[in-house]
Amino acid sequence: MGLFTPRRPPAATDAGARYHESTPVGIDIHGLRRRYGDKPVLNGVELVVPPGQTLVIIGGSGQGKSVLLRHIIGLETPDEGTIMVGGLASTDPAMRARYRVAMIFQSSALFNSMTVGENVGLWLVEHRVFPSRREVDAVVQERLAMVGLEGTASLMPSTLSGGMKKRVAIARALAMNPDLILYDEPTSELDPLVSDTISQVIVDLKARLHLTSLIVSHDLRMAFAIADRIAMIHEGRIIADGSPEAIRADPNPIVQRFIANQNPAPQQPHRP
Ligand SMILES: Nc1ncnc2c1ncn2[C@@H]1O[C@H](COP(=O)(O)OP(=O)(O)O)[C@@H](O)[C@H]1O
Ligand SMILES: [Mg+2]
Repeated sequence: MGLFTPRRPPAATDAGARYHESTPVGIDIHGLRRRYGDKPVLNGVELVVPPGQTLVIIGGSGQGKSVLLRHIIGLETPDEGTIMVGGLASTDPAMRARYRVAMIFQSSALFNSMTVGENVGLWLVEHRVFPSRREVDAVVQERLAMVGLEGTASLMPSTLSGGMKKRVAIARALAMNPDLILYDEPTSELDPLVSDTISQVIVDLKARLHLTSLIVSHDLRMAFAIADRIAMIHEGRIIADGSPEAIRADPNPIVQRFIANQNPAPQQPHRP
C-alpha cells in the first residue's frame, strides 16, 4: 500500500470535522540507533525539522534513508534514541490519532484494480470523512488538479506512465490533507525530464499548502530544486545539514564526492 494510514478514532463525524484542520508538524530525532541483526544501520541520527519545512535527505544507496523514514512514521521502533512527531513519539498511537502522516513509497503502489479516482479517494472513503460520494469526488478532482492530472479519474493505473503514476500517488497522499508528507525516492526510475515535473509538483505544493515535507533521495538535481534545507546521511549518521548552498560548499570530502559523482544540474525545474 502506497500510503501510510494512521489509525483514527472510529467516529466518522470526528474525522470529517477534523479533516479541514491541518497543522504542519515538526520532527525531532535524537540519538536514533537501529541495527538489524549484527548490522548497524542507523548510528545516532540527530535531526530536527521545523513545522512547514521542506527537507531533503540525500545519501547513497544503503545508507539508511528508507529505514529512517520507516522509523519516522512509526512502522519501526528504535533500539535507542527518540523520534518525536509533533511532540508525540512516532510509535505512540496518540501520534497517529492526532496527526495525518502520508508516505509515498518508492514504488507508487497504486491499486491496479481501481481507477485513478478510486485510488485517490480511498482514504476518504475508508475513513468516512464525508457523508456523500459527491464530496469525495470533489476532493479527488481537486487533488488530481494539484498534481496536473485533471480529467484522469476514470483511467486505470496500468495505462499511465511512471511519472503519472507517481503523481497519482502524490494526489492520493494529499487526499488525506496530511500534516506531514514523506516521500521515498520520488524520482527514482524516472528519466530526468519526468523527474523535473515531479520536482515541480513538489515545489508547487510547497507554495500552496502549509505542510512539513521530508523527501529522501539520491537525486541531487531534485534536491537542489526543491529543498529549503538538505541533510546528508552516510553510514546511518547525518554528516552534513544546511541550506542547499551550504551543502554545496560543505568541506566534508564524502559530501563533495557525492556531489561530484552526481554531477547535478542546479537550475530550477523547467516550467511549462
Ligand atoms: N528489515 C531489514 N532487515 C535487515 N536489514 C535491513 C532491513 N531494512 C534495511 N536493511 C539494511 O539497512 C541498510 C539501509 O537500508 P535502506 O534504508 O533501505 O537504504 P537506502 O538508503 O538505500 O534507502 C541496508 O544495508 C539494508 O540492507
Ligand atoms: Mg531506500
